[in-house]
This record gives sequence, C-alpha cells and structure tokens, in this order.
Amino acid sequence: MSVKIIGVGKALPRKKILNSELPEELNTSDEWIRSHTGIGSRYICSENENSAVLGVKAAEAALANAKSNGFFVNSEQIDLIVCSTAVPVHWGFPSNACLIQQSLCADNAAGFDVSAACSGFIYGLQTGRALLNQMNWKYALVIGTEELSRIVNWKDRSSCILFGDGAGAVLLENSEENTEHFGSFVLGTDGKGAEVLYLGTDDILIHMDGHAVYNFAVKKMVEIIQTLMEKDNLSIDDIDLIICHQANERIIQAAAKRLNYPLEKFPILIEEYANTSSASIPISLTDLSENGILKHGMKILLAGFGAGLTWGGCSLTW
Ligand SMILES: CC(C)(COP(=O)(O)OP(=O)(O)OC[C@H]1O[C@@H](n2cnc3c(N)ncnc32)[C@H](O)[C@@H]1OP(=O)(O)O)[C@@H](O)C(=O)NCCC(=O)NCCS
Repeated sequence: MSVKIIGVGKALPRKKILNSELPEELNTSDEWIRSHTGIGSRYICSENENSAVLGVKAAEAALANAKSNGFFVNSEQIDLIVCSTAVPVHWGFPSNACLIQQSLCADNAAGFDVSAACSGFIYGLQTGRALLNQMNWKYALVIGTEELSRIVNWKDRSSCILFGDGAGAVLLENSEENTEHFGSFVLGTDGKGAEVLYLGTDDILIHMDGHAVYNFAVKKMVEIIQTLMEKDNLSIDDIDLIICHQANERIIQAAAKRLNYPLEKFPILIEEYANTSSASIPISLTDLSENGILKHGMKILLAGFGAGLTWGGCSLTW
C-alpha cells in the first residue's frame, strides 16, 4: 500500500487588507511590517465566511485539481476528513470536519479536527496517511483552515499584523502502487513553551512573546530539516524544495542561513497571505504547483512549527 497526494487546493476570503489599510490606531506602517516580516497584505473573513466555509472551498478545489490530474474522486468515495484548525466555527463541537463533511455530501467519511496550531497540517497529514493504511481506506482529505482574524488582538500591533485567514487542502489516495511517496515524519511538542503563544481563556485573543517564538522557530526549523535529511539519508543536493510554515520571511531566511543552504530552495509565499497558521503549507503547495515551480517527481521537505509548542515535518516525492 502506498499513500500519495493526488490533488491540492486553496481558498481565501473575498476581502484583502493591505498593510496601508490597517487601522490607523495601530500606529504601524507598510515599511515596518515588510521589513520585519515580509508581509504585504492578508485576507480576512467577512459576512458568510468562516473556517468551515473556506475548508469546504479548499477541499472542492483539491478534488477538482485531482480530476485535472486524472483522478476522478467523488465526495461519496472520501473515507476520511481530517481538519486542522485553531479557529473552528464552534469551540468544542461539532468539529469543522463534520460541517465540511455535510457541505461536501461526503456521506461515507469519518471526520475529526486536529488541534496543533500552525503545525496542525503536518499532524493531519501523518494522521490521514496512517489511518488510510490502518483502516484500509482509499481517500482522505487533509485540510488546514483558519479564521485567525477572529482571535487576533486588533489593539496589539506586534501580533495582529502577522496573521491572515485562509484554507488549503490535499487529497490523499491509498493505492496498490509499490512506490513510497512519503519518507519520514518528525512530530514533536514542548508544553513548557505553552505560555509564549496562547489563546487567552477569558479574552479569547492571541497572546504572543514574539522574540521567544522567533528563536524557537528558527532553531526548530533547522532541527526538523536536519533530522529528516538524516533519517532519509538525503543531502541538500537531493532536495528540490523546502517548504516551511510561512510565519515570517526572516525566520525562513535565518534557518536557511544557519543551515548554509541556498535560499532559492526555500520558497517564500508570505507577502500576499501573511501567516495563515495550519493553512500556510497547503496554500503554498497549491500555489507552487499551480505556477509550475513544484513539479511531479520532485523531492521536497515540509516543515512547520507553532503554538503548544508544537512542530512537525516530513519528506516526500511530489
Ligand atoms: C513579532 C516580530 C515580527 C517582532 O519583530 P522584532 O524585530 O523582534 O521587533 P521587536 O519586537 O523587537 O520590536 C521592535 C520595535 O518595533 C515596535 N513594533 C512592534 N510591532 C510594530 C508594528 N506592527 N509596527 C511598528 N512598530 C512595531 C516595537 O514596539 C519596538 O519598538 P521599541 O523599540 O520602541 O520598543 C518577531 O519577533 C516575530 O516574527 N516573531 C515570531 C512571531 C511568529 O511567527 N508567531 C507565529 C508563530 S506560528
């Protein structure tokens, strides 16, 4: 049995907010935000949009993309929906996966949400892959979908400028093929860092120690990449692209520099979307595949980190 990605898709809210359009009270500037983060704009949910709505659209786009790749999968064939989100429509239950299942008419799918903050897509990918194998299922949707604009503190200029809403999805197929598409996975947590990035229980807003998160992120990205390369016996020459969670372009640049690897192997897609948490990696996969940078047969690494603290990565052949 071999599991592979056969479709990718993304969805963004209708409303785009440029740095220059942020509220004046924030006392920030396009120059500061770009020079400290690489962010130029973000998409924000408005009426009739939320993380489940975006998740459905991203999933539909992944199914359509699979079709264009020659894989005709209808929603009734989907066995599993794994949805990573930090901002579900309902805190607690029902899960976003259930809302998405209903909208897609995926009548035969099991579904649940994953909570691992910005690392959630990688956790979901490994969970989806493992369950397809374990349950002898054929198709799984793994979705990262976020409405961070609902939980950012719009009075805190050091954090609110970082985040945006959006969704990305992949469709996994479990087939009889002998080729293994996924290599190793790395997953980890460190609850000692819980207080550097958390959602307040009373105010339901993001609280962040930016410096602590930055230092953790650079260190962890380096470790994830090195561990995956060691596990799968890869050198940098074997790897075409290293697709990182898009939190701040400076984090990615610093990790690349510390590893002494060419920055060209680290695509940066934060300018338009800002940090979309667990949606950032599947959105990046969609854009890179659509614009022809990510090609069939390429060896890639994925690496993410986030609140928890959590982290995760994997190697795969596209
Ligand atoms: C948040 C972050 C961008 C701050 O960048 P930084 O270079 O460390 O900036 P500092 O916090 O040192 O702030 C420098 C100055 O800019 C100011 N500043 C902060 N945000 C600002 C903003 N949006 N606009 C203008 N000025 C701002 C600060 O008040 C400070 O001013 P001071 O020197 O007068 O006190 C950076 O720490 C970061 O990206 N951390 C990681 C966050 C992250 O990725 N979180 C999500 C993880 S999934």
